[in-house]
Amino acid sequence: MKIDISTKIAGVKFETCVLNASGPLDETLKQLEIIGKSASSGVMMKSCTLESREGNPKPRYADLKYGSINSMGLPNLGYEKYVEFTSILKKKSKKPVIASICGMTAEDNITMFKAFNNTPVDLIEFNPGSPNTIGKPIMGYNTDALDKLLKAVSKVSKKPFGVKLPPYFDLGHYDQVAKVIKKYPVKFVTCINSIGNGLAIDPESEKPLIKPKGGFGGIGGRYVKFHALANVRRFYELFEDKIQVIGVGGVYSGSDAFEFILAGASAVQIGTAFIQQGPQIFEKVQNELRDLMRNKGYTRLSDFRGKLKPLD
Ligand code: SIN
Repeated sequence: MKIDISTKIAGVKFETCVLNASGPLDETLKQLEIIGKSASSGVMMKSCTLESREGNPKPRYADLKYGSINSMGLPNLGYEKYVEFTSILKKKSKKPVIASICGMTAEDNITMFKAFNNTPVDLIEFNPGSPNTIGKPIMGYNTDALDKLLKAVSKVSKKPFGVKLPPYFDLGHYDQVAKVIKKYPVKFVTCINSIGNGLAIDPESEKPLIKPKGGFGGIGGRYVKFHALANVRRFYELFEDKIQVIGVGGVYSGSDAFEFILAGASAVQIGTAFIQQGPQIFEKVQNELRDLMRNKGYTRLSDFRGKLKPLD
């Protein structure tokens, strides 16, 4: 039985629904080429800013028992490099290439969106949800600011784009955010960015595990899966499948991927597990997902996507 786990995001075909998340190990051309050669079905690039950034002081990432904490602070080479990398990556592989844009100002975002218009980039993921920029709030929590940003970038982007959202916890916030997003030609949302401003402490040294912001950082991995699933589910319901949802947060296995798709995701991204287990994680999750689908008699994602069953 042929099991097809391909998907389409904004009309762009992905051979499988499992790809890397923006953030980990996707900053340099060398790292992006490793992702290109891996089983990741797309090459998602690091969130870029107008100017290159060193990021926050180290240590700024730590593995935790069930995930990770990070306050990287958007270290990246500046958008011009990722514009250049897009053409190089597209020449080397047929996979979709996705740019991630995280400007410090509306003007920066406009400049970067315009620059990617003239590249072969397939999709853009706009990231107003990073919790790690010192002195800057999480933009995705301010619906007025989000509205203004989306208005500005919608006017200039000729590429299909989506928005990577921070996690929401209050049901009313989902409604407010969905209302704003529906006003613009947003093709997908990616749920969720790390859960911002956690604190991991080493009881031995009596110090935080990471240096920036007094130890505060975004929590990822297994800790966040249940909130990620809830965010995927709620936005899937609110968007009635007219705006697609990509799930990210705690995907380590085929079963994790399956749960996200059942909740309504059209694809899943892998962040912390990619750092912890290397590029073979993509093939492992894809194979496990195919096995699980075979056992259940499903042959394609549409057999179960979004079809979470109610308890009797
Ligand atoms: C970072 O570089 O701080 C992580 C990116 C993000 O949180 O969006």
